[in-house]
Amino acid sequence: MEAEITSYIKQNLKTCYMGKSVHFIPVASSTMDEARKLAEQNVPEGTAVIAGKQESGRGRMGRAWLSPEGALATSVILRPPLDALHLLPAISSIAVHRVISQTGILASIKWPNDVLISGKKVCGILIENSFSAGNLVCSIIGIGINVNFDITRFPDIAGIATSLSIESGRPVPIGEVALNLYSEMEKLYDLKSRPDLILDEWRRHLGTLGQRVTATVGDTVLEGLATSINAKGNLVLRMDDSSFKEIIAGDVSNVRNPDT
Ligand code: BTN
Repeated sequence: MEAEITSYIKQNLKTCYMGKSVHFIPVASSTMDEARKLAEQNVPEGTAVIAGKQESGRGRMGRAWLSPEGALATSVILRPPLDALHLLPAISSIAVHRVISQTGILASIKWPNDVLISGKKVCGILIENSFSAGNLVCSIIGIGINVNFDITRFPDIAGIATSLSIESGRPVPIGEVALNLYSEMEKLYDLKSRPDLILDEWRRHLGTLGQRVTATVGDTVLEGLATSINAKGNLVLRMDDSSFKEIIAGDVSNVRNPDT
């Protein structure tokens, strides 16, 4: 599996830096930790880690992330300028959206960076930033895509998740998904001085917009109409009293269909 994935990437990757150096770890606790160790050794921006499987994959909001063999678990090291940090959820989720769309499957993004197919989660993204003395040292972008696995084997997520192999009805090569992902990420990351272009593409694919949603922010649950994404990438809700609330981070779900 390792040779299949890494040699495919090495032979076919046409990026300048994204995924140019890929570290494959057959069994990792979390690619986030492996990437952090590499970042501390000052490896070049775009260096990536792929795990054959993760034993303690982590998700947003302290949740666990299931990452058996057949899933793509990758973390990429970036060192963006501070003023581009807010674009990373958009850049990474659009990149995944593009990769899935290229296979002919219709996907949508749930703010901030889940990717769904027919309302079921196929990808989750975790972004961890390190700061030192107020300066951003690095951002680790962790991307988990359910590529080739039979979700029915995992009853906890069977009703709310899907995989590319289920949706396409055929096995999907993980190396190809990783390569296309690095390639789309580089194109988008290179556009970071044009946030308008990135945010516009994000808005076009965000299934969240126009829906009545609940947003869980810490202990508070807000309900309103998801009306827009502002220039900071935050979600704007119109509340029932016609006031507007900006959601910077949190969990959002559709009121009518809470899994989406
Ligand atoms: C979420 O939806 O909660 C985010 C899930 C992020 C999972 C990926 S898999 C690769 C990287 N390593 C981890 O431990 N987490 C991220």
